Amino acid sequence: MKTFAEIYGAAPQAIADAPGRVNLLGEHTDYNDGFVLPTAIPQRTQVSISKNEQGIFRVYAAQFDDAAQFSLDRPPQNHFAEYVYGCVMELHKRGITVPALDIHVDSTVPIGVGLSSSAALEVATLRALKTLLDLDLDDIAIARVAQQAEINYAGLMCGILDQIASSLGSTGTMLFLDTRTLERRLLALPADGEILVIHSGVNRTLADTGYNQRRSECFEAARQLGLSSLRDANLKMINQLPAALQRRARHVITENERVLAATSDVAAAQFGNLMNESHRSLDTDYEVSTPDVNRLVALLQQEPTVFGAKMTGGGFGGACVALCRQGRARDVAEKVIGLYATPDIHASLLVPIIGAGPAQVFSVNR
Ligand code: GLA
Repeated sequence: MKTFAEIYGAAPQAIADAPGRVNLLGEHTDYNDGFVLPTAIPQRTQVSISKNEQGIFRVYAAQFDDAAQFSLDRPPQNHFAEYVYGCVMELHKRGITVPALDIHVDSTVPIGVGLSSSAALEVATLRALKTLLDLDLDDIAIARVAQQAEINYAGLMCGILDQIASSLGSTGTMLFLDTRTLERRLLALPADGEILVIHSGVNRTLADTGYNQRRSECFEAARQLGLSSLRDANLKMINQLPAALQRRARHVITENERVLAATSDVAAAQFGNLMNESHRSLDTDYEVSTPDVNRLVALLQQEPTVFGAKMTGGGFGGACVALCRQGRARDVAEKVIGLYATPDIHASLLVPIIGAGPAQVFSVNR
């Protein structure tokens, strides 16, 4: 793992960072104009940059000890550099000329497990570019550009959850966001609770999974209902839909209800029940869980000091999140990781335990 100066021979001209996120409730609602409830994780991605005289972008990823190059008309071959390339291209489309740069990426965000390592890289890249080029981009604009970079250059037709959470979230508070209006509030974590994030041991790449297909199914369900999005659907309307579309729509409708229920200052026990219901819905109606993830979630849910547990993020493997009684998450992690292990598969603690931080409660409408 080399520093910026070791790779490029001088100190960087701008440095920025951004966190990954864990989503507590509101899965697969963001591209349906719905509600989400993530929190930022302590792990962050740092991007350091300087202008160069080479006429080519050079990217070095410290955690892989790997380097890539690109220019505007020649995309990089390496996967990690695509996200940086996407950010540069999206700015270019908006009339912002980005000069050739030397770029150093260093990250502690777990990769490929549903904790938004790609959004952290995109947001950190755009923050560094904002500083270096003195760009007029606020946190929302950064999230929007980052989302377009993901869609257009990484091939995932995502909503704005990950990029907004990385751009606006803070560890120890929950970010409630209405993805239709972008109205948002920072909320305290449930009193008496702490957040545990455990990896199921199964990595996934969302662009290769059913993510884009789920999104198409939702759009088709909305189209058949004559709605612009499933945000406006209710359970009474969906009986006429074909069975699979009915299940997808039911997940989105009930998941939005769960997020709204969770934002009314509920007790940890009730919040946990909402997480359990969310997982059941993601498994049976949305069909984005896996047997291993279900087994891990069930082990977590069985623990008396766990209020609730679910998969987190897009699904098809990756991480699970649990709300535990304060002070108990570490014991739960040790026990459940032990019970889960088989010769072929091992769970692991992914994120330092997140307790209730100082809640900078605010509300913004835009
Ligand atoms: C991925 C996507 C998000 C969101 C989640 C599921 O993380 O990038 O936009 O759809 O899956 O909640």
